[in-house]
Amino acid sequence: MRLRRYRHLLIYLIFAYILFFVICFREKLQLTTTRSPSVTTSDTPTSKAQIIRSELIFNASTRYQLDLSNCWTDLDYQQWKDGKYFPASKPKGNIVYMVQTGEKNLRTRCDIMMCTFGVTLHPSRLFFVGETPSDSRLPVYDVVEPNTPRPVDRKGSMQKVAQGLDMIVNKLREGDYNNEIEWIMVMDDDTFISPPNLNLLAAEYDSQRPVMIGQHTCKVGFCGGGGYLISRALFVQLPAFVKKCRPHDELWDSDQFVPDCIRRKVQVELIDRKEFNSQNPEFYSTPLGLQDHPNGFGRAVTFHYMKTPMKYVNLWRLHQAYMRE
Ligand SMILES: *[C@@H]1O[C@H](CO)[C@@H](O)[C@H](O)[C@H]1NC(C)=O
Repeated sequence: MRLRRYRHLLIYLIFAYILFFVICFREKLQLTTTRSPSVTTSDTPTSKAQIIRSELIFNASTRYQLDLSNCWTDLDYQQWKDGKYFPASKPKGNIVYMVQTGEKNLRTRCDIMMCTFGVTLHPSRLFFVGETPSDSRLPVYDVVEPNTPRPVDRKGSMQKVAQGLDMIVNKLREGDYNNEIEWIMVMDDDTFISPPNLNLLAAEYDSQRPVMIGQHTCKVGFCGGGGYLISRALFVQLPAFVKKCRPHDELWDSDQFVPDCIRRKVQVELIDRKEFNSQNPEFYSTPLGLQDHPNGFGRAVTFHYMKTPMKYVNLWRLHQAYMRE
């Protein structure tokens, strides 16, 4: 009898409990059935690739540290070669970068290049050409002729650009990426480079025309170390003769005698662009620096004489702060 009397009350209590739970855990119940828009957007493949990428590059120049000795390691090189630092969704680009270097600069300048712009490139797009046949941290090749005295001195080093171009064009021909490459960018190991700005500049030209593009305000060829682009229409012709391009008494700098030698052999247009800089940013804030650029300045593609690793890294960090990749 008693139980019967309280039966209604019991049902009310159970009902109240259920209502209480539904109100309290409403949000959790909803999440399990429908996904809120913010959850969906943060889960896109690109952002996932970025997360994985930033986790992997934990010692690169993106991390602020005064000691740069671990900026680029053997492990980094393995992971870079395996394509782990290059987002799968990102286009590989149509420019191959050729950096002229020497044995003594591998652990200083070249490691710093790898931990700044190098790590942003697809591994098929970067070559160091010097006197070293292989290295645990860099895609480096020995391009110096066997009869050259070693260690290779400054004069012996001057053949690296011509020999390197020959090697790379032949390698591209045999490789998987041949048809994707429209340009070769020639530069030194103390040349700072902005790949995004170089892409924009190259896109203004037709690579089916034989052209070379750089700072062409110096007498012959290009101003040293400012770097220059070679179009596909031109680079495919190089293996026929470029190995024979030699420095001579009047022209001994490879940025001058190689373009000059090419110009004498085949039809080519040399184009001057103010985006290429054969000096460093400090120099361009002096009166002499302004004279070096009679046509003014552009959205910088290169700077040269980036003497210390820290200067290179700092300029790269500044560059990254203003760039959207
Ligand atoms: C980063 O540096 C640490 C030492 O500071 C080293 O143990 C680690 O292997 C480095 N990471 C990579 C990817 O090389």
